[in-house]
Amino acid sequence: MPKSRLESEKFWDRESPKWVEQTPLGPLAHSVRRFIKDHTQTVLRKISKNLPIVDLGTGANTQGYFDDKELPRIIGLDISREMLKRNAIGKKVVALLNKDLPFKAHSIGLLTSFLAMRYQTREEHLNLLQEAGRVLIPGGALLIVDVPLNKYDYQYSSFNAKALAQLMESCDFENVSYEGTTLEITLRGPNYSGFGGDYETFRTSIAMVVGWVSQKGIRQASEELIAEYLIASEDGQITIKTATAPPPF
Ligand SMILES: C[S@@+](CC[C@H](N)C(=O)[O-])C[C@H]1O[C@@H](n2cnc3c(N)ncnc32)[C@H](O)[C@@H]1O
Repeated sequence: MPKSRLESEKFWDRESPKWVEQTPLGPLAHSVRRFIKDHTQTVLRKISKNLPIVDLGTGANTQGYFDDKELPRIIGLDISREMLKRNAIGKKVVALLNKDLPFKAHSIGLLTSFLAMRYQTREEHLNLLQEAGRVLIPGGALLIVDVPLNKYDYQYSSFNAKALAQLMESCDFENVSYEGTTLEITLRGPNYSGFGGDYETFRTSIAMVVGWVSQKGIRQASEELIAEYLIASEDGQITIKTATAPPPF
């Protein structure tokens, strides 16, 4: 695990060539991308077409998750200049997603984050919720997708979609939902992937949580809510609701 943010930046710079093609996802890349894209499209249909979208921890291939017509309004934010250099989207910001976001209050329609939350601590997840409440317009959405079972990969904390969804609800996000899916792979050739999962049974799971900012805005999480979240999020597990077919390769 990278020990400091600087090492983390260097780590991600070095990783960047692989993330253009998403090779660290190994044979799961197709299914993971499809899961993320499907959920993003569902959320996007409810967001005003004029508002910017910010993708947090955007990596090197943001366009793979969105339809081409959405690309002009997407701003990719990442710690790694090398990731952003390789990324074909037009608007890029070098910044830390665990610090206050470099956007004006109530200026963004949708915040997304794909496969980046597990690199932040749970305290940083909380800061992100507050920042989401500040930069999103009322009615805007926060969509997070990540891997709860990530035992072979670098990570600061587990991603527990259910616990995060509960916290979002308590902070006045509306219509909060979460979902998990099991992705199964059939191995042909060497099993390399930096992606989280259980390689003995060749299964991994991916989870999403989405919430909408209420008209009242987002209130500050109380000490009690934070304590509950920190405890609840420890097991890192979610209920697996659906199973998808293996990817066509
Ligand atoms: C596993 S990659 C996923 C990239 C992209 N979202 C995707 O799905 O292809 C994680 C990304 O998060 C970025 N990242 C990690 N920690 C970050 C931080 N604290 N602030 C900003 N970006 C960060 C990395 O540079 C990297 O691009």
